Amino acid sequence: MSKPHNIIWHDSSITKEDRRKQNNHSSFVLWFTGLSGSGKSTIANTLAKELYERNIRNYVLDGDNIRNGLNRDLSFSDENRSENIRRISEVSKLFVDNGTVVLTAFISPFIQDREMAKRIVSEEEFIEIFVSCPIEECEKRDPKGLYSKARKGEIPDFTGIDSPYEEPISPDFTIYTNEQSVSEIVESILNLLEKRKLI
Ligand code: ADX
Repeated sequence: MSKPHNIIWHDSSITKEDRRKQNNHSSFVLWFTGLSGSGKSTIANTLAKELYERNIRNYVLDGDNIRNGLNRDLSFSDENRSENIRRISEVSKLFVDNGTVVLTAFISPFIQDREMAKRIVSEEEFIEIFVSCPIEECEKRDPKGLYSKARKGEIPDFTGIDSPYEEPISPDFTIYTNEQSVSEIVESILNLLEKRKLI
């Protein structure tokens, strides 16, 4: 993408460090990636509640919600999925600058796009969590009835059916939503964050 012309960056008077100090915690992005129906939103929202209880300011950015507003102009073509992730990464970066912990729940099927997200946010502030769940299980759950529609050919370019999902090669963490309970998973992520001294 080309650089914007005649746009000069204006530094803000309050820094990210100031905001973190005021909040009494660090800020970073927990990037959940996985198939539709794998449990990204469930885990992100349950974890958000736990962080909230611990007075950690946080916000969930969720594919289905963001595609209702900010990204309502985007389709599910490869290019538009990329643009979806680019915009979310920029929004996440603003939240991190604001001292907020961000939990993103997007399929984000392409390795290249997740790498772009990491670059935009910054490597140290980006934690990739692979929400692993076999497609057969996601399809059995089918919480929104979309797999069934996609199988009938009613939704083109559906991830896992006629659009690819590229599994992370070395994610920071992998959770197995068909093997562990939601509370076990949330506990394990909290442990990881404590171990890394992020919370
Ligand atoms: S992403 O691929 O661009 O990261 P995103 O997470 O924003 O996807 O949106 C995925 C959600 O949109 C799914 O959970 C599903 O509810 C809905 N959806 C609608 N059409 C599709 C499609 N073709 N492929 C995948 N998800 C779709």
